[in-house]
Amino acid sequence: MLIRIITLTILLNIVFSQITDGDKTLILVQSVWRHGDRNPTDPYPGDAYDKTFWDARGGYGELTTRGMAMHVKLGAKIKKRYNQHLPQYYNAAEIYVRSTDVNRTIISAMSNMIGMYAQGDSDRVNRDYPDFTGTPYKWPSNFVPIAVHTVDDNTDHLGNANAYCPRQDALWKYCYQNCPEVKKIIDDPATQNLIAYINQSIGITYRVDELWKLHDVTFIENDNNLKMPTWWSQSFQDNLTDINDRVEDLQDGLNLQALNGINFAVELPKLRAGALTNDMRMHMDIKLSCAGKTTRNCSWINGLKYYAYSAHDETIASFLATLGAKDDVVPHGYPLYSSAAVVELWQDKQGKAYFKVFYHQGDGDLYDFDEITKYVTGCDRSMNSQYCSLDVFEKRADLYNPGDAAKLCQDLSILDFLSSSANPTNPSTTPKVSRGYFDLFSITFTLLMALIR
Ligand SMILES: *[C@@H]1O[C@H](CO)[C@@H](O)[C@H](O)[C@H]1NC(C)=O
Ligand SMILES: *[C@@H]1O[C@H](CO)[C@@H](O)[C@H](O)[C@H]1NC(C)=O
Ligand SMILES: *[C@@H]1O[C@H](CO)[C@@H](O)[C@H](O)[C@H]1NC(C)=O
Ligand SMILES: *[C@@H]1O[C@H](CO)[C@@H](O)[C@H](O)[C@H]1NC(C)=O
Repeated sequence: MLIRIITLTILLNIVFSQITDGDKTLILVQSVWRHGDRNPTDPYPGDAYDKTFWDARGGYGELTTRGMAMHVKLGAKIKKRYNQHLPQYYNAAEIYVRSTDVNRTIISAMSNMIGMYAQGDSDRVNRDYPDFTGTPYKWPSNFVPIAVHTVDDNTDHLGNANAYCPRQDALWKYCYQNCPEVKKIIDDPATQNLIAYINQSIGITYRVDELWKLHDVTFIENDNNLKMPTWWSQSFQDNLTDINDRVEDLQDGLNLQALNGINFAVELPKLRAGALTNDMRMHMDIKLSCAGKTTRNCSWINGLKYYAYSAHDETIASFLATLGAKDDVVPHGYPLYSSAAVVELWQDKQGKAYFKVFYHQGDGDLYDFDEITKYVTGCDRSMNSQYCSLDVFEKRADLYNPGDAAKLCQDLSILDFLSSSANPTNPSTTPKVSRGYFDLFSITFTLLMALIR
């Protein structure tokens, strides 16, 4: 009898907790967001704000209280938007949160979940949290703890666009030296002037793909209303931002023509976000194929309603690049703090599957969810709101599918022409770059990138 009642309750829940639109039903929601406001990761030479200063605010690279607040707001907005689809109370079978293994993304995920579920009802005490109201133990009022999963950052090809990847480093190194689009930025007198000005001001000569380091810290200091050095001006920051934005787009493969048979526009996003796009696609595929099945390998996905990835600006930028939507959705630079891309899976009564994509530009006080489905390559650009066939998402995922990303990352054969075409009698015609050089570069580059974002 009890079992029947439980079954009936579950059935009723399934029937009533749904979002529908005509003959279509929302099946699964997946989001990828950037952490909230954070401290800089490194000072520049002569920086007035040193380690002691940032330690008092949580330390280099850490999420600030402003950043936590941003994610509480985002979580609350996601809960409100999908209220009918999501369980009323947090339930580990229906919600899965995966963060990169970085303090600020993990704490962003926790803050986001506080916005969604942790302000629980007082009548859930002893169900969702213990009854500790005074001394010696005090549980935060109605706080429901929510699991946040992670994996080692160096191997995290889903959330970390700069996970250890010699192939990506080698491709970018080759492009940096040979792509005309990069050369154009380097040779631009505006770039040269800026780099010379930085040299005069702080005594460092940056490569254009290192300018982000200075941009990052000056942006954050100014954003925190700190007194800036005399050499700094808003016009300087704007110039730095402009150059840095263009370089970061190139690093994501955007605006790059193929060169020597290498299609950078595919090869770079494939390594930076192809695994993420394919992970989302896999969740949608198995969600559909498992419907109505009770096999063991279907139980996790059958329960799942919401999957969230807590990650970085470059994760979202390169994910949007795989969809073909980066230029339209974030035309300049990288996504803002607590921005989020949300992918919805829908299905109609005939069983045909569709997706929609929404983008939340940043802080929840300023932005809401904008529909961006039409910007995905293959969807109808003329329609502001639409259900785009899931086949289109699958095509994008196929195009950028890295397979086993860790394995592909070790494969440098795409650059074999560098050594094979080198003519010993005329060594000056082809830049010859040895594997050993790439490996050393990769390790240095990976270590550097591990410190950022
Ligand atoms: C995380 O926090 C610990 C403890 O403060 C610190 O040692 C570590 O460097 C931080 N790591 C990252 C990746 O944020
Ligand atoms: C700064 O520029 C000067 C003049 O071009 C150069 O000699 C010096 O090496 C540069 N400094 C650094 C740290 O690169
Ligand atoms: C910013 O760039 C413009 C155009 O190149 C230039 O005229 C101006 O001097 C630059 N400002 C600074 C502070 O670098
Ligand atoms: C689950 O396992 C069955 C039988 O081994 C297999 O046919 C099916 O494709 C699997 N489904 C998923 C979603 O992995």
